[in-house]
Amino acid sequence: MNIGIDKIGFYAPPYYVDMVELANERGDDPGKYTVGIGQEQMAVTPLSQDIVSMAVNAALQVINDTDRNKIDLVIVGTESGFDASKSAAVYVHELLGIQPHARSFEIKQACYGATAGLQMAKDYVTLHPDRAALVIGSDVARYGLATGGEVTQGGGAIAMFITANPRILTLEADATFYSRDIMDFWRPSYSEYAMVDGQYSNEQYVAFFAEVWKAYKEKTGRTLSEFEALCFHLPYTKMGKKALSQVLTETDDEKQQALMNHYQASTVLNRNVGNIYTGSLYLSLLSLLTASEALEAGDRIGLFSYGSGAVGEFFSGTLVDGYLKNLPTTKIKELFANRKQISVSQYEDIFSKVLPQDGSELTIPAEEDASPVRLVAVKEHKRFYGIG
Ligand code: COA
Repeated sequence: MNIGIDKIGFYAPPYYVDMVELANERGDDPGKYTVGIGQEQMAVTPLSQDIVSMAVNAALQVINDTDRNKIDLVIVGTESGFDASKSAAVYVHELLGIQPHARSFEIKQACYGATAGLQMAKDYVTLHPDRAALVIGSDVARYGLATGGEVTQGGGAIAMFITANPRILTLEADATFYSRDIMDFWRPSYSEYAMVDGQYSNEQYVAFFAEVWKAYKEKTGRTLSEFEALCFHLPYTKMGKKALSQVLTETDDEKQQALMNHYQASTVLNRNVGNIYTGSLYLSLLSLLTASEALEAGDRIGLFSYGSGAVGEFFSGTLVDGYLKNLPTTKIKELFANRKQISVSQYEDIFSKVLPQDGSELTIPAEEDASPVRLVAVKEHKRFYGIG
């Protein structure tokens, strides 16, 4: 029985800032941002969007009424949780109108959360092939204004509908994983911003990839030559390239070129959105599938997930015949066409706005946010969402 990704949806907030403008404002060489880091545009998340509304906006692209009755698991991976107790998944379950006898919960392990959810969903559907799971990664990456990490911020959500006989990607039971307690990136619950040892996190990302890739080859006997593409968790698009470069020499020149071409395709969307933490790997997969014209059914794609702190995992999937028909290509084009570019000072203004923390009431104006679901108000420490 094949289990995997049947549908995939993506949502990014309605504003973005241009990275050349940001570099100029910060007194940096734009080449550092666009080439050295590899980012062109950065999504800016207004008060009217949070991890719940973004998750629902992404999921609305993929589920219909039949799916609503079939979903038994609603899993939200996030590291931008706004509640230490109640999960974002419970709000998402209700807002999406999913059948009530479902399990809804949130998973946290930095950017690895959605992968944990995906593997759990795969196992569940393997045991219950007539049922389905909804796995979402939804985050807002915030390091702070004029910080070293600012250039690697972003926000957005990916939603994946996991079923038997999937129409996009069949997931293999070949994952290798690795966990170690390190302090490369973390966010104490009293802090709005992530703490990061940037260069150390770069080193650890590459080291964790080497570890799980070695374990993968030993476990499966597969070689790099058997892959058409590798997708990476992309906090910024240069990051995955550092990991890929260290293994490229394991295959011949022609394959090296093909893997690099596919790597470029896998960065197109991320380059224009920024870091979306838990969803970044799956945004990269979506980018690859929508941007590459050289892939075909049966091709094997490797996926490297990394969540600081840290957990790494490598696994693979094979493309299903007709996968192109099930991709949200038109919706993605519309989403990007409808985004509005804002100036650096407008971005700073949006970034600095916070919701009340004293229980007072705030009605949040839609302004230019025409997304199907928005955070419309907070009152007595409760969030209220509006649809349509
Ligand atoms: N033109 C082209 N490239 C340039 C450049 C220019 N004018 N100026 C600098 N660069 C290159 C550097 O050579 C470097 O490339 P390399 O990494 O291939 O060596 C890159 O741009 C970044 O420069 P660096 O000096 O390392 O940037 P930084 O000290 O500001 O830190 C991060 C970059 C990513 C570490 C920082 O933004 C950060 O901490 N981000 C958050 C953490 C994160 O995303 N971690 C990833 C693992 S999950």
